[in-house]
Amino acid sequence: MFSRLLHPSTICRNITRLSYSQTAATIKVGAKSEAVFAREEKYGAHNYGPLPVALCRGEGVFVWDVDGNKYYDFLSAYSAVNQGHCHPKIIQALQEQSKIFTLSSRAFYNDLLGEYAEFITKLFQYDKVLPMNTGVEGGETACKLARKWGYQVKKISDNKAKIIFADGNFWGRTLAAISSSTDPSSFSGYGPFMPGFSVVPYNDIPALEKELQDPNVCAFMVEPIQGEAGVVVPDQGYLTKVRELCTKHNVLFIADEVQTGLARTGRRLCVDHENVRPDMVILGKALSGGVLPVSAILADDDIMLTIKPGEHGSTFGGNPLACRVAMAALEVLEEEKLAENAERLGEVLRKELSTLPKDIVSVVRGKGLLNAIVINPKFDAWEVCLKLRDNGLLAKPTHGDIIRFAPPLNITQSQLQECLNIIKKTILAF
Ligand SMILES: Cc1ncc(COP(=O)(O)O)c(C=O)c1O
Repeated sequence: MFSRLLHPSTICRNITRLSYSQTAATIKVGAKSEAVFAREEKYGAHNYGPLPVALCRGEGVFVWDVDGNKYYDFLSAYSAVNQGHCHPKIIQALQEQSKIFTLSSRAFYNDLLGEYAEFITKLFQYDKVLPMNTGVEGGETACKLARKWGYQVKKISDNKAKIIFADGNFWGRTLAAISSSTDPSSFSGYGPFMPGFSVVPYNDIPALEKELQDPNVCAFMVEPIQGEAGVVVPDQGYLTKVRELCTKHNVLFIADEVQTGLARTGRRLCVDHENVRPDMVILGKALSGGVLPVSAILADDDIMLTIKPGEHGSTFGGNPLACRVAMAALEVLEEEKLAENAERLGEVLRKELSTLPKDIVSVVRGKGLLNAIVINPKFDAWEVCLKLRDNGLLAKPTHGDIIRFAPPLNITQSQLQECLNIIKKTILAF
C-alpha cells in the first residue's frame, strides 16, 4: 500500500500558485520535506548524500521544495540544465515528439536520427556523431573508438593499446571510468580494474610528453576544466600544447566536454577558448537541457568508421525523442546566446566573489558560469551550503572544502546580483 503522505506532485501543483516574490527570509524546511527524506532513505540505496532539500518543481533558474520554498539553483544538475529548468521550447519538443514516436531501437531507421546527426555535426564541424545516453557511456564509447583506431589505423599490437587520463579526472561510475580514477571514494573496493589505462598529473605538459613516448598509446582523454575535481582550471595554453603533443605522437586527443561543453564556460565548447580541435568530443548533460539522458561522441570518419555494425550501441541511443529534444536544446543555446551570457556574468560573479574575506573564502576560480570557491578548512563547507539553502540558494560541496557555483546560463544580471547578495550575507555571517 502506498503511504498516506501527500504525493509530491499534488504539493507542487499547489506551489505553482505561489507568488514569485517570496523572500528568502521565509524559508523553512518543514514536515513535508522531512517525509520525502525519510522515504527515500528507507527505500532508496544510499549511494548519494544529498543536501536536505526536497525539490518538486523547476522553472528557469528557480526550483521549489515540497514545503513551498523557492530557491536559486546554483548547481544546475551538474550543468545538465544549462538552458534553465523546464525550458518551454525543449519541453514543447518533448511533448510533441512523445505523442508521435519515442523509440525504434537501431534495428530500424527513424526519421529524426539523420536530421539530428546532420544538425549536430554541422554545428560542431565533425564528420559524424555516435549517439548514446549518459555521459559515462560517451566516455566508454570514446575509449572503445580510441582502442579500435589504435589497432586498425595506428597498428598497435593486439591488446596493447593504452589510454592516458589526468589525475583528478571524473567521467562517471562504471568499472572503466573508476579504473582511471584517482579518487579513492570512486575506486576503493571495486577492483580489479581495467588494464591499459595510465594517469598523468593534470596541467602537466612534461609528464604527458613523457607518457606519450610509449608507442602503444592511442589516446589522451581529458576535461578542459576538471568539474568534479572542484572546477580545476588548467594554465592558459595547456590545451594547445596537448593538441600539439597528441598530433606529434599520433595519439588521439579526446575532450570530455560532458560538463564543460554546451556554453557552460562561456564558449560553445570549452576547448574553443584556445581554438583547438580535439579528435573526439564527448557531450552529455545539457545536450537534452536536463530533460532526458542524451550523450554524443563527435569524431571524423577515420576514427568513427573503425567501429562496424554490431560492434557498439545502445537500445535508447539515437531514439527519436532524444534526437528531437537535443536539437531543441542546442537551438536554445544558440538562439539565446547562452555562451555569451555565461562569459559576461561569469566575470561579474568571480569579481564579486573575490571581494569576500580571504580567511573564509580562500580561492575563487572558474570560467564562464562554471565556478567554485574554496572554503578555509577552519569552516565547514557543508554548513555553508546549509546556510545558503536557508537563505534561498542551493549549492553543493565537493571534496570537503569546495563549493561549485554553476547556475543555469539564462540567469539575468539582476538575478545574479540577488544571488551574490545571498552568498555575501551567508559568508559574512560565519
Ligand atoms: C566531465 C564528466 N564526464 C562524464 C560524466 C558522467 O556523466 P553521467 O553522470 O551522465 O554518466 C560527468 C558527470 O558528472 C562529468 O562531469
